[in-house]
Amino acid sequence: CVLVLDYGSQYTQLICRRIREIGVFSMMFPGDASMERIKSVNPKVVILSGGPNSVHVEGSPRVPEDFFGYCQQNSIPVLGICYGMQLIVQMLGGVVGSGVAGGEYGRMPILIQPGSRLYSFQDNTQPNVWMSHGDEATQLPEGFKVVAKSEQGAVVAIEDQARRIFGLQYHPEVAHTEQGTDTLRHFLLDIAGLTADWSMAEVLETQLKLIKEQVGPTQHAICALSGGVDSTVAATLVHKVLGERLHCVFVDHGLLRYKEGERVMEMFTQHLHLPVTKVDHKDVMLAKLKGVTDPERKRKIIGAEFIEVFKAFANNMEKELGHKPTFLVQGTLYPDVIESCPPPGSGQKHSHTIKSHHNVGGLPKDLQFSLIEPFRELFKDEVRAIGRLLGVPETFIKRHPFPGPGMGVRILGDVTEGDRLEVLCMVDEIYINAIKEFGLYDEIWQAFAVFLPIKSVGVQGDQRTHSHVVGLRAVCSSDGMTADWYPFTPEFLRTVSARICNQVRSVNRVVYDITSKPPSTIEWE
Ligand code: XMP
Repeated sequence: CVLVLDYGSQYTQLICRRIREIGVFSMMFPGDASMERIKSVNPKVVILSGGPNSVHVEGSPRVPEDFFGYCQQNSIPVLGICYGMQLIVQMLGGVVGSGVAGGEYGRMPILIQPGSRLYSFQDNTQPNVWMSHGDEATQLPEGFKVVAKSEQGAVVAIEDQARRIFGLQYHPEVAHTEQGTDTLRHFLLDIAGLTADWSMAEVLETQLKLIKEQVGPTQHAICALSGGVDSTVAATLVHKVLGERLHCVFVDHGLLRYKEGERVMEMFTQHLHLPVTKVDHKDVMLAKLKGVTDPERKRKIIGAEFIEVFKAFANNMEKELGHKPTFLVQGTLYPDVIESCPPPGSGQKHSHTIKSHHNVGGLPKDLQFSLIEPFRELFKDEVRAIGRLLGVPETFIKRHPFPGPGMGVRILGDVTEGDRLEVLCMVDEIYINAIKEFGLYDEIWQAFAVFLPIKSVGVQGDQRTHSHVVGLRAVCSSDGMTADWYPFTPEFLRTVSARICNQVRSVNRVVYDITSKPPSTIEWE
């Protein structure tokens, strides 16, 4: 594999994804991983990521002292990006300082010097790149030469052809860098000699084989389907091996979107032929949520109820089969298991990239199953590709994410009061249909309506009204960790607001949320 050591750059996962897009398997470890850990994955190439630190700050993360020696002995090419390049310069005896440029940020052209190995594939000698650095290399270690400079004269690319160690001060992984992916491809395939053989078809074959080996011929597995892409594709894949020995449960907790239960059940049974039991837990859930207004309490109640239903399902299966199902299928993704470098100043050593409250569908360890997690090494777009290979319909694969607690966190305050659930479901349906009609669904990462626990004054049909207010949210994002609000046209907003107020008579006001994340979160609760 290609091992990417993470020094805390916001782009590290992107490096990993770019490498996979090129067709080579890559993984990420924290930047201060031990030599033992690095050796354990037998990397063919190591990439040192960027990061917010300065190599001069005491305690800033670095590779182990014997790292370069190990790479040398094993002919492992190394590429440092931004902070990673400065680490190479400093650790191999060069000097990093404030230099001639005194910091360069944003898109700018670089000047490639003739005769470089790193750029031997390209004719454009002045590509625009994405730069973001304060320090720069002011004196190179022995054996290195400068292969590109910025317009201000800062060293922005270096190489030691003999030892196959390379450094880029800019970010080849971001889309703003011209021929950035080509540079990475040239480095991995031509310089490092790797083969581009990582494909989703291959991953699928390997996973099917692994599951066949992992699960004995009479053993059974269970899976909680949420209606989301990850668990659905995971179940579809495992079903190919286990057939009727896979048992799925779909919990209708009463907080689903309009006709969601029927729609996903049709998908599971008619299109994907999954053996799935639908458990109607609506009444119990809503009874438990009655009068509860605190967002965290609501989340906890919904999560706990879900676990109770799942436990009951597992016990039932045990009774039916005469023995306990041995395996639990989960759609865990690579970003959930990556230990990333934490943001500076967070006080954390290494943080997981998701918030704990996201794991509503996550089940407690004391359930004591062996896990089948076929996507532990995959990113979301790769799971989508596997889904396509397995014949999961495109409309389903491209669905926006939907949180485990569902409408429970989209109705602010008491979920159960009056007709809140019905009103929100109708508004949400009108809104999402309009987005589809205007051809915007695939451009938007996630869109939904929220119910606000206030009333406002309006005038409808010459009558004064005192009715509900609903909010609309639509965001662009790549992973849900940061997000920006979607700039709808006035025409779209006018159309959707008119439709909502006309078709849902108890709503007389529609507002649009124009806050990014941060400072807001995507969901309102
Ligand atoms: P926030 O609101 O934290 O949401 O900005 C980021 C992404 O996560 C989804 N989300 C959840 N997903 N269970 C889930 O499965 C949850 O409890 C949960 N809370 C938020 C949210 O919809 C957005 O896509």
